[in-house]
Amino acid sequence: MSNWQKSDWRNKPRVQMPEYTDAASLNGVETQLSKYPPLVFAGEATRLKAELARASRGEAFLLQGGDCAESFAEFSADAIRDTFKVMLQMAMVLTYGAKVPVVKVGRMAGQFAKPRSAPTEVQDGLELPSYRGDIINELEFTPEARIPNPNKMLQAYTQAAATLNLLRAFSTGGYADVHEVHGWTLGFTENEKAERYRDLANRISDTLDFMRAAGVDSDRAHTLQTVDFYTSHEALLLEYEEALCRRDSISGKWLAGSGHMIWIGDRTRQPDGAHVEFCRGVMNPIGLKCGPTTTADDLKVLMQKLNPENEAGRLTLIARFGAGSVGDHLPRLIKAVQEEGANVVWSCDAMHGNTIKSSTGYKTRPFESVLREVREFFAIHKAEGTIPGGVHFEMTGQNVTECTGGVHALSDEDLSDRYHTACDPRLNASQSLELAFLVAEELSNRHQPAPDAAKAG
Ligand code: PEP
Ligand code: CO
Repeated sequence: MSNWQKSDWRNKPRVQMPEYTDAASLNGVETQLSKYPPLVFAGEATRLKAELARASRGEAFLLQGGDCAESFAEFSADAIRDTFKVMLQMAMVLTYGAKVPVVKVGRMAGQFAKPRSAPTEVQDGLELPSYRGDIINELEFTPEARIPNPNKMLQAYTQAAATLNLLRAFSTGGYADVHEVHGWTLGFTENEKAERYRDLANRISDTLDFMRAAGVDSDRAHTLQTVDFYTSHEALLLEYEEALCRRDSISGKWLAGSGHMIWIGDRTRQPDGAHVEFCRGVMNPIGLKCGPTTTADDLKVLMQKLNPENEAGRLTLIARFGAGSVGDHLPRLIKAVQEEGANVVWSCDAMHGNTIKSSTGYKTRPFESVLREVREFFAIHKAEGTIPGGVHFEMTGQNVTECTGGVHALSDEDLSDRYHTACDPRLNASQSLELAFLVAEELSNRHQPAPDAAKAG
């Protein structure tokens, strides 16, 4: 990687990126951003990579989640706190099921730019450029709002810095203390399903009480009161990524200073394209979305480009096929990974293959489909003898009504009540926690060795 330059992506074909019309203003923003401090540091990215290496071996489990798109308008301390809190609760439930540490990575502090299925949008006969996320243009349907404006990168940087500041404070300032976090039952109603969760929640609470009584947590106070929480986003807007790219003074390696982990989306993973070119040169952990159109040959080329040294923890393959389709695609990609002897974390994004239009016109995701995709993912890894290393969700700590189903049985008619997403529908706090309980059940039988496997060694 010695002659890689952070601007090399500019010589490659690019897709899903805005055409800025004001070159002088774009240049000014890039110059300014490139003087600002990086948001994350090389030592942190290295630590996350080591934790993901453990996840690739089944010694840890990745939980990645947050907004589809962060928004300038919805930015508030309460929203960040609530999402952080739900992720910690989910992590606690998953730890109980998996019996291994959970690596917590937010889609936060940089998740602003969105790939779109069409470059333009038509409303009442008027055609305008699509909304591409608050870092690029505005959601409002007017010609002015949809013009890409480079100054938005500065506002995104400021919001990301403030978000990270709060997350760092929550992670170390006592908020992450396990005793603060277990409000398990989160309004589960009185029904049979809720009963199952309440039972597991009570067992976890009892364990925590026991540990406290036994003085276990006073010895290990630090571990139980602080938490490692990492940030991630899709590295889509490469002008922003390049401007925040820094050379680590200790290792001499390049770091994407915009977030701990960055990923390549399903629409921008062309092996010879700009996004792969940028991501291959930085030392951060990299995610790669794998969808129904990912071929085994492309995956092999991508693994070679993105992780030529086959470093464990460097590459997370985020499978997003859709419920009912996992069996058509995951086995052939697992085979490609095995043929290459590649070290990867397999994670399951159970959101992006399950988006539908509801009968009331809202874009939604049925909770049942999300759950079904997770189950299929686990079942296939079990059949193949490979390791399901993590899950990836679009979720929020707010009580929104964007995905249908779950323990409160949200219907198509309920979606209009609190539908706030600027992009894809998210699981709300109660649906997220419910999912964590279900994933924990899957995890608790993840490594049951076959009856004679224990004897064989
Ligand atoms: C996303 O994660 O928000 C996204 C757009 O995913 P994908 O690239 O897998 O469609
Ligand atoms: Co999304």
